[in-house]
Amino acid sequence: MTHIVRLRQSGRDFPIEANETVLDAALRAGVYIQYGCSNGSCGDCKARLLEGRPGPAQPHDFRLGEPARDAGWFLACRTTAASDLLIDAREIGEPEDVPRQRITAKVARLDRHGDGILVLSVRTPRSHTLRFLAGQRVTLTLPGGQRATLPIASCPCNGLILEFHLFRNPGSPFPAAAFETLHQGDRVELDGPSGTFTLADDSPRAQLFLTFEASFASTKSLIEHAISVDEDRPRRLLWLARDRACHYLANLGRAWADSLEDFRFIPILIAPGDWDHALEATLDQLNEMPDADIYVCGPSALTAAAGIRLADHAARGALYLDPQD
Ligand code: FES
Repeated sequence: MTHIVRLRQSGRDFPIEANETVLDAALRAGVYIQYGCSNGSCGDCKARLLEGRPGPAQPHDFRLGEPARDAGWFLACRTTAASDLLIDAREIGEPEDVPRQRITAKVARLDRHGDGILVLSVRTPRSHTLRFLAGQRVTLTLPGGQRATLPIASCPCNGLILEFHLFRNPGSPFPAAAFETLHQGDRVELDGPSGTFTLADDSPRAQLFLTFEASFASTKSLIEHAISVDEDRPRRLLWLARDRACHYLANLGRAWADSLEDFRFIPILIAPGDWDHALEATLDQLNEMPDADIYVCGPSALTAAAGIRLADHAARGALYLDPQD
């Protein structure tokens, strides 16, 4: 049976299924509450029950004394719900609320798209998943010592599997090492997260995403998180690329468009530097949803051009820019 958990401070709520923990239900719904180990050891997810009946608590090592339990304290990562719940939990709202974490992860998958594009998935330990906000980055160190700070392309609702998108670049040793030397099961070090290009998930407005080639990684994370918060919001994805191969996950864009109520996927091929063409297409979409929040990520030439051409839009919706070069 499904119940509802409501957070007293923000008023946000989310459904919780039978046998699901409060933490898992919150993350699935795109609601971030403070947590650490996810296995009942650290106490970071301590929350307080104000109303309702919790379900049976799963065993945990962290010691909650009797006075704390009598006062309603419980561990969100170990507690289920037997009724609707009203709770006090520490919510993560801003990038600076997310602590720096260092985690050793393993390469789970290497998906090549042609010769030049690699989608890398790494798995964190179940007891040490990465906490981050959609749109943030993390620094990866490969077994050979090569290091790069990359956008995380996956949803924070799954901190266990993290995805990164790499384009082969003759002048850059990191993608070369990833393409040539990385194998499934290899260990990589993660350090982060960093970055403030995150989703304004308290905004009720429509959302327009403008992105360029591999910057789709950040956009994908934002969209996956946005969908987990609210499936039905009007959304447009304009993905710019110099050739069709650089729309390497176009199937995903089409799948969103097929399955969601009001989602339009608009792949656009552009000549190098022809940002005007892309911004005209953006303005066309804004005619239909004039108060949308706009998220632009890509080369700084694109974000700078967007900052100028879309400046008037700031009176109606927000404009977020993330230069990625
Ligand atoms: S997250 Fe560590 S005890 Fe719940």
